[in-house]
Formats: sequence, C-alpha cells, structure tokens
Amino acid sequence: MNAEALRAALDQHPRTHLVAGVTPLVTAPRLRGTLGPETPELWIKLDEETGFGLGGNKVRKLEHELAPTRLDGVTHLITTGGAQSNHARVTAAAAARLGLGCLLVLNGTEPAHPTGNALLHRLLGAKFRWVGSRAEREPAMQEEAARIAEAGGRALIIPLGASTTLGALGYVRAALELHEQIDETRDRDVHIVLASSSGGTLAGLIAGFALVERPDIHLYAISSDTPRDELLRTAADLAGGAVERLGADPKVIADQLARTDASDAQVGDGYGIPTPASREATELFARSEGLLVDPTYTSKAAAGLVAAIRSGRFLAGDRIVFLHTGGHPALFANG
Ligand SMILES: Cc1ncc(COP(=O)(O)O)c(C=O)c1O
Repeated sequence: MNAEALRAALDQHPRTHLVAGVTPLVTAPRLRGTLGPETPELWIKLDEETGFGLGGNKVRKLEHELAPTRLDGVTHLITTGGAQSNHARVTAAAAARLGLGCLLVLNGTEPAHPTGNALLHRLLGAKFRWVGSRAEREPAMQEEAARIAEAGGRALIIPLGASTTLGALGYVRAALELHEQIDETRDRDVHIVLASSSGGTLAGLIAGFALVERPDIHLYAISSDTPRDELLRTAADLAGGAVERLGADPKVIADQLARTDASDAQVGDGYGIPTPASREATELFARSEGLLVDPTYTSKAAAGLVAAIRSGRFLAGDRIVFLHTGGHPALFANG
C-alpha cells in the first residue's frame, strides 16, 4: 500500500486530536562524533515533542484509544501503571482536556512528597487506587469501573500503556511520518532504535512499515523490563491486529518482523533502576547534543544504542534513527 492509501485507511479511524503535528527528525552529529569514526549517520526522532501533557509516545496512542466514538456517555477514564507512569500522566491530562474524571490504579503506596510524574498526576486532578502487585491492576480497574457505574457514571478502561491494537494505530501513523521523513535508498539500511515495555509502540511501527513496504527499515527495541521473546511476541500480535484494523491481511507483517529485533540486556536490576550504562548514555546524550533522556525508558534505549554501535552491530554506511519516546518528568522524580 502506498502512503496515500495508508493515510486514507488510518483516516477511517476516528481519533481525538492531541498530537501537535509532525515531530522533528534531527541529526546528532556531536553524539555521532563522540561515539567514534565508524559510527553511522545518526538521527533522533523527537517524539518527546508530541506536544500534549509534556509529550512522549503515549500521546499518539491515546488519540485512538480516546476516539470520540468510544467516549459516548463516558464520565471517567481509568488506567494503570507504576507510580511514575508517563502513560498515567498523559491519560490524566487527556481526561482534563475532555472534561472527564480520571482514576489511576498505580503500584506502590501514596508518596508523602510526590515528585516527577506523581506530582503531575495530582496537578492534573487524578484520583488514585494503590495496589501492591502488577497482578492486582486489572481486577482493581474492574472494581473501580463497577463502583463508578453504581454511582451512575461510566468508565472507559484504557489498558496498560494503551498498548492495544487500537492504540498501536498511533504508531502506524508515526511510521508513515518517518516513511515520509526518511528517503528510501537501495544500498543503505535504516535502523530505528527505541525503548519498549508493553510493546504497542513497536507494534505500530512494525505494522506501519510493513504496510508501506520499506525493506530498508530495521527495528531494534530495547526493553526496559519485559523479557526479549515476550516483547517480540506481544508486539507481533498487536501489529497483526493493527494491520487487520486497517483492512489488510495480518500476514503482511512477516517481512518486517524478520527485520525486527529486541534486547533485554539493558534492564539491569529492573524497571526504573538506572545502570552504569544508562547513566553513561544519559550524560553522553545531554552533553553532546543537549538531549535529555529519562531514567526508566529512553536512557536504557540510549544505552542499548551505544552498546550496539560499539559492538559493530551496524555498518558504517547505515543510517540510525533513535526514536525518543519522552518521559522527561521522571528526571525530576525523587524515589
Ligand atoms: C517514555 C517511554 N518510552 C517508552 C515506553 C514504552 O512504550 P511501549 O509500552 O509502547 O512499549 C514508555 C511506556 O511504557 C514510555 O513511557
């Protein structure tokens, strides 16, 4: 399918407009220079600047999750995540924009002195339910939805990270954007490196590049918590579902899947816990390009990028695009 056909297929799906516009794709010559003479051409896609609620990848996904057709009679949004969830922040901001209540089911306990995203969740007017484990998230969301219904309201539950076949359409649109920003050349591969957790961002890119047929595009997802094989499986399932929503056969993703890889080598001691490599990458990005990466997702992806370049994973003539998925508020989180 060509770009126009994909745009037309996407436009069949109503969305609530939250993304400010096409996000910039910029070069990173000083970062490239710092990483050595063999480093391929390096670009950064600034999805930190999606332009709503302090930006990041969740803005694109929520445009579809919060399609006007899904909001009929809805009084509240409910979602879930960690205490510093970026997704919870953007959901709370969207609830405010839409005039809805927002209930966040978060892991942990109420912080005495909220900072980072936790501070913003409150500022945006969200209410909270605290749960101890990840397994408690889904039942707690269902309970809260039932409670809202008993009180005469109606809740829309947005799954973790908005990583659904619907949410992934936001990254199909991002793939289309990148397709138009990066010329296809016969002899140069493009490697897109990105942070991944619940897999929806990766899924949308797989689906989008499969649909516009870009044999030069390779995807490399750096996990912030999910084991590699599980991440690839989840992303493949979601990508197939997203493609079906766009009226195509899910089998079309096969070639793009073969050009998709993931790594969980940067997780270290766990989700949100910095590693020596993620700290080094954070300083490299900041001091060579003035680019800020967050401690949970993008610093680990940056560490994965640096490790891949140093290990010779890419050819000198390739082009690399680091997809910056946002997360800045966590830089100001204390605990
Ligand atoms: C800043 C940031 N980058 C990357 C991700 C990972 O995206 P996904 O859950 O779609 O894999 C998230 C959320 O989980 C995020 O908040």
